[in-house]
Amino acid sequence: MIATPPRTPVGRFAALVEQRLGLHYDKAQWGELESLLAERAAGSGVERYLEQLASTSSQAEWKALAERLTVGETYFLRHPTQLETLVEQVLPSFMRQTPNIRVLCAGCSTGEEPYSIALLARERGRVDVSRLRILGVDVNPRAISHARRACYSPWSLRAMPLAMREQWFQRTPEGFALRPQVRDQVIFEERNLLEEAPAFWAPGSFHAILCRNVVLYFPPEVIRKIIARMAQALVPGGYLFLGPSETLRGISEDFELLRGGDAFYYRLRQPAPSAAPQRTPSHLELPVLSSHTPPPLPDGLEGVLHLLEAERYTEAWGLLESQTQVSPRALLLRAVLHLHAGRLGQAEQLGRQLATESATEAPAHYLLGLCLEQFGDEFGARSRYAAAVRADPTFALGQLRAGTLARRAGDVVDARVSLRMALSLLPQEKPLYLALFGGGFGRHGLMQVVLQELHACTEVS
Ligand SMILES: C[S@@+](CC[C@H](N)C(=O)[O-])C[C@H]1O[C@@H](n2cnc3c(N)ncnc32)[C@H](O)[C@@H]1O
Repeated sequence: MIATPPRTPVGRFAALVEQRLGLHYDKAQWGELESLLAERAAGSGVERYLEQLASTSSQAEWKALAERLTVGETYFLRHPTQLETLVEQVLPSFMRQTPNIRVLCAGCSTGEEPYSIALLARERGRVDVSRLRILGVDVNPRAISHARRACYSPWSLRAMPLAMREQWFQRTPEGFALRPQVRDQVIFEERNLLEEAPAFWAPGSFHAILCRNVVLYFPPEVIRKIIARMAQALVPGGYLFLGPSETLRGISEDFELLRGGDAFYYRLRQPAPSAAPQRTPSHLELPVLSSHTPPPLPDGLEGVLHLLEAERYTEAWGLLESQTQVSPRALLLRAVLHLHAGRLGQAEQLGRQLATESATEAPAHYLLGLCLEQFGDEFGARSRYAAAVRADPTFALGQLRAGTLARRAGDVVDARVSLRMALSLLPQEKPLYLALFGGGFGRHGLMQVVLQELHACTEVS
């Protein structure tokens, strides 16, 4: 948090960005803002530009800045255990109490998260979807128009089982278009979570709010304000889902922490009952933990890995850049981060180099397979996954990917062999591989993916 008003132009710019968008930039990161400031102020001059930004008539410029500064990383079925808990336990618990169930995705980016809820609700069948209302809001106008178009790249759908993708999406020249009956279930709105909007945050507006991987870029006092707003807008006993590396510890006492499988989430504490206490539905009787403190970030490469696992890619890159190590493991992390940023050429170049080192041979082949999939070369990718499991026969994720592509190519026998290997190897998968390539799924989530793939093999044969 910026305590005293900064005098340098970039410091003032950073303070305005934090005030209006909530995004906090440490002094060490001001370099990133400097070039943006120079670019945006080229027409008017820096002083005048900053004055205009601070005035109320600068909405259009703030929209443009939101597009440039926000981090929109997202994909379908991200943190799947939380989503399963939402559609299988949380939302059904409201079915008998209310005609319509209202879910808010705050910071929904390009829409994958709210659409995942709509899809899973249909797949699991525990909620009457005609009574489910899902609203996605985001400060980035470009993300919102993408969400409304509902057309996605294979990368956005990377965690979705093929059978599900085939059922709910239509392949078009622009990408995978979500079928209209699901698309139309979600409404999107451009909205800054920091702006006062009493009508929007009116008491009892939502049964569940997802605000995942959004507040990790905000300073604590901004998080406190936003969470207080959300607590007010939830129905009594409503639910809040944050990202895995976000916590309410030190932020709010209004919620209790719950756990379902390997997912954590929060429930708004009920006011002390005046009459006999209501019984919690048995399916919601989950172990309650007193606190959930993420472990402190270790230094060095472990820290980078930890940030990568939490999908905090920009920070992971920053930390990696500050390291002096050029070990194969550091280069592997660099290659994976290039891949996540869409710099496929650089990822591939490093992958090729690392595939010749025995310490990184298997993950490097796997990474090259992912790059080839991005280039649309599934045949080439299969041979890379095969090379990955030759280099490390215990590499469960390599078997999983090999099996998935074999099934897509119609080689059901090969697919089954690889997928069964994946299933038996997953319980012992190396934590490094899970962190690098697990895509936010825990072991349990990945096992579900394998089972769905095996099921899809049965449907094909
Ligand atoms: C990393 S994405 C998370 C997307 C999704 N919730 C998920 O977990 O996959 C963070 C999103 O928060 C949005 N965001 C950041 N600051 C915001 C603000 N002040 N108001 C609304 N949205 C904001 C960004 O535009 C971005 O799309």
